[in-house]
Amino acid sequence: MTRAIKIDQHGGPEELKLVDVQVGQPGPGEIRIKHHAVGLNFIDVYQRSGVYPMAMPLSLGMEAAGVIEAVGEGVTHLQVGDRAAYASQPPGSYCDVRVMPAKCVCKLPDGISFETGAAMMLKGLTAQYLLKKTRPVEGLNPGDFVLFHAAAGGVGLIACQWARALGFQLIGTAGSDAKCALAKANGAAHVINYATEDFAARVKEITGGKGVKVVYDSVGKDTWDKSLDCLQPFGLMASFGNASGPVPPFALGTLGPKGSLYVTRATLFTHIATRESTQAMADELFAMVGSGQVQIRIDQRYRLEDVAQAHRDLEARKTTGCTVITL
Ligand SMILES: NC(=O)c1ccc[n+]([C@@H]2O[C@H](COP(=O)([O-])OP(=O)(O)OC[C@H]3O[C@@H](n4cnc5c(N)ncnc54)[C@H](OP(=O)(O)O)[C@@H]3O)[C@@H](O)[C@H]2O)c1
Repeated sequence: MTRAIKIDQHGGPEELKLVDVQVGQPGPGEIRIKHHAVGLNFIDVYQRSGVYPMAMPLSLGMEAAGVIEAVGEGVTHLQVGDRAAYASQPPGSYCDVRVMPAKCVCKLPDGISFETGAAMMLKGLTAQYLLKKTRPVEGLNPGDFVLFHAAAGGVGLIACQWARALGFQLIGTAGSDAKCALAKANGAAHVINYATEDFAARVKEITGGKGVKVVYDSVGKDTWDKSLDCLQPFGLMASFGNASGPVPPFALGTLGPKGSLYVTRATLFTHIATRESTQAMADELFAMVGSGQVQIRIDQRYRLEDVAQAHRDLEARKTTGCTVITL
């Protein structure tokens, strides 16, 4: 038996229940992993609340690190005793031990702690695919401006540091002056408090009227319209989240007069669809963290039994950087 967090229906944090569940043996292509730490992500909130409708009952959580306990037939990249970490479907990482597909589970380098591994896989692989693989049609070069919303959050602080390492001038938005200062200390070239400032006007000011080549927007409903006004002609609107609510339907025709803009709605799960792509992306993340160019900031820790409070704080915008559930 193992402890796990489950929900029986979509709803608020009160739906999160700590239960005992059976853990079996891994089947073909699967592993059993004993977690040492679990990562908290905003997608957990969407899956709990029903923004992303899920089949019930549902075990929550998409990210963790631990030690491989058993390996199913056909798994060759992991062995019993390996330290490992993952960002992966299906959900179910809020637990002590689980059986899961091995495909997205990567060996964790010795120099990276379990807590860091648990905090960084989903958020770090997301920063990787956004900055490296979700680029405007004309490409990105050192010195280019990019706009990154919620820059003091989990994905945000990693992206600030990674963008600095790539030589981009990341303009980061955040909801308070303290969060703006944190984003700046972590590599944002410019910061905008979008709770008190008109971020589109400030982006125009910072870029000398030109705008940015790409907007990375995980806030969704509240930032969509103005984000389009921050883009240069042929710029890319990369929507990758809905922290304020889903982006409402919009008229495609508006993209023409705004400068023949491009739009994508990106998800990590397309990028980590294969073992090979997952490992290649993870290797880049491990190199960035191993070299110290990206530091994983864990600003909050909660016990598994207090995960409802973790959800409340994340939704109330009280958190910064990464959050880890300790076991
Ligand atoms: N598509 C993908 O592949 C992918 C992968 C990973 C994450 N994501 C998305 O990226 C975003 C960041 O994820 P994360 O786990 O690192 O979370 P996070 O950034 O640590 O937390 C979300 C942040 O969004 C901002 N926000 C703006 N409006 C909000 C609202 N109405 N309610 C709550 N928060 C609001 C808050 O920062 P301020 O107070 O500074 O505004 C908040 O701290 C999420 O939207 C997540 O779904 C997408």
